[in-house]
Amino acid sequence: MKKGIFISIEGPDGSGKSTQIENIKQFFKDKKMDIVFTREPGGTAIGERIRAIILDNNCREMDYMTEAMLYAAARAQHVAQVIRPALEDGKIVICDRFVDSSIAYQGYGRGLGEAVAIINSYAVAGCMPDVTFLLKLDPAVGRNRIRADQQDRLESEKEAFHDEVFRGYLQLEKDNPGRIVGIDASGSIEDIKLDIYKKLEEVLNCL
Ligand code: ADP
Ligand code: TYD
Repeated sequence: MKKGIFISIEGPDGSGKSTQIENIKQFFKDKKMDIVFTREPGGTAIGERIRAIILDNNCREMDYMTEAMLYAAARAQHVAQVIRPALEDGKIVICDRFVDSSIAYQGYGRGLGEAVAIINSYAVAGCMPDVTFLLKLDPAVGRNRIRADQQDRLESEKEAFHDEVFRGYLQLEKDNPGRIVGIDASGSIEDIKLDIYKKLEEVLNCL
């Protein structure tokens, strides 16, 4: 039985996710609350190896369904080995990206649609976040923040791909109002932090 709290953080590339994750870690540190922090793709030794293949700029020939299944395979391992046991142990799990990334990037961005939700229903096996913070930022703005020579295989995709990913995220937000908390990520780092802190307090009071 799940007893802990599962929080995921989502957003387009360059939306400030890594920056705000550091703030979220600090939020819990200030409260002297232990968290399990993890990320996708990755989070386990097997998942990190899958991550290296998926993000490798040399893997240009990768079929979109192969890509979706690799993300899901890494996730299945992550849920089984890290997330579910931690939640059963009553821990707070903070995850940098989760299944919404697959729906947005592979379902919308790659145009694989419903297949992605179906594959991932097996990967997550009912283990879904209690709350998901979605950093909402025009993908063109996010993209400009990442240096071209530092972009991985997904980040270096064309603009239309990232527009579709963002459309997917907005649809997910609309479809999951009880779980997904949209954050306007166009302001200053400090303002976004304060907004997230306020919402984290609300989450801790409600759960
Ligand atoms: P992500 O993890 O979503 O790709 P990062 O947190 O790594 O994004 O941020 C990408 C770049 O944008 C970094 O150089 C970071 O310092 C900068 N950045 C993050 N948040 C903001 C913000 N609110 N305004 C301006 N620049 C930001
Ligand atoms: P990440 O390391 O979070 O990149 P960043 O910190 O720049 O946001 O994620 C790597 C890339 O993988 C990112 O472009 C999003 C993509 N991704 C998917 O396409 N599907 C998925 O299921 C996940 C978890 C990530």
